[in-house]
Amino acid sequence: MDSFIAWVGGKKLLRKDIVARFPKEFGRYIEVFGGAGWVLFYKERHANIEVFNDVNSELINLYRCIKFHEGELQKELEFVLNSRELFYDYQRDKGLTDIQRAARFFTVLKFSYGATGKTFGGVKKNVSKAVDHLKEIQKRLSNVVVENKDFESLIKCYDRPDSLFYLDPPYYKTEGYYTADFGEVDHERLASILSKIKGKFVLSYNDCEYIRNLYHNYNISEVKRNHNLVARYSSKEKEYKELIITNF
Ligand SMILES: C[S@@+](CC[C@H](N)C(=O)[O-])C[C@H]1O[C@@H](n2cnc3c(N)ncnc32)[C@H](O)[C@@H]1O
Repeated sequence: MDSFIAWVGGKKLLRKDIVARFPKEFGRYIEVFGGAGWVLFYKERHANIEVFNDVNSELINLYRCIKFHEGELQKELEFVLNSRELFYDYQRDKGLTDIQRAARFFTVLKFSYGATGKTFGGVKKNVSKAVDHLKEIQKRLSNVVVENKDFESLIKCYDRPDSLFYLDPPYYKTEGYYTADFGEVDHERLASILSKIKGKFVLSYNDCEYIRNLYHNYNISEVKRNHNLVARYSSKEKEYKELIITNF
């Protein structure tokens, strides 16, 4: 199934290539940098134990409200309007319940330009269709553990010989799109933790020398896709190269 939100760096176009590299058997599936969860939602189930994580607490509050309060969230979203005034009011609101915060976060994401949540998109959106999709998402999440941790403590907590970690960190030199800071120290911290795990990992990254050097000891394959934004604005389609790195 598809995700219920667009997200910067979302793996809608790459999910098939990523899942094709998963090992045949694993007991636990852990998605460390969850975002819109395109890879999680691609399959009805990846493993008996599934964990979905992101450090962004507003995003994870939205996932938890869908999982535990889907009906209330739908009610909260019933009369939402696609208007510039409402969009900027929603960005500023304080003192809300978790369900209200989730509804507003979802609305701001839906109506923003490029799903950044920052500026009003000003385009027509079918919100009721998106809201209807939440029921299916709730079902998919019913056996998924939803976490809100930094990657380091998450990996340490769920590492076992039968674990498969799928990791999609902020891409090198494009980290500023996300609310949490992520710099070279974090890319190197991630590489260092991954070098010590007992389980397996599949890691996606942008193709650059820095990342190739950091992971030179692993299996690296190259995948190409059309660059979403360039394809949208230019008559010539431009290719964007990404890497899928595995330790098995
Ligand atoms: C490239 S996006 C993931 C996109 C996702 N695979 C999808 O299909 O939508 C990277 C995500 O990493 C999260 N993130 C940033 N720093 C993190 C950290 N230290 N620990 C865990 N998640 C983090 C961001 O909030 C963002 O959602």
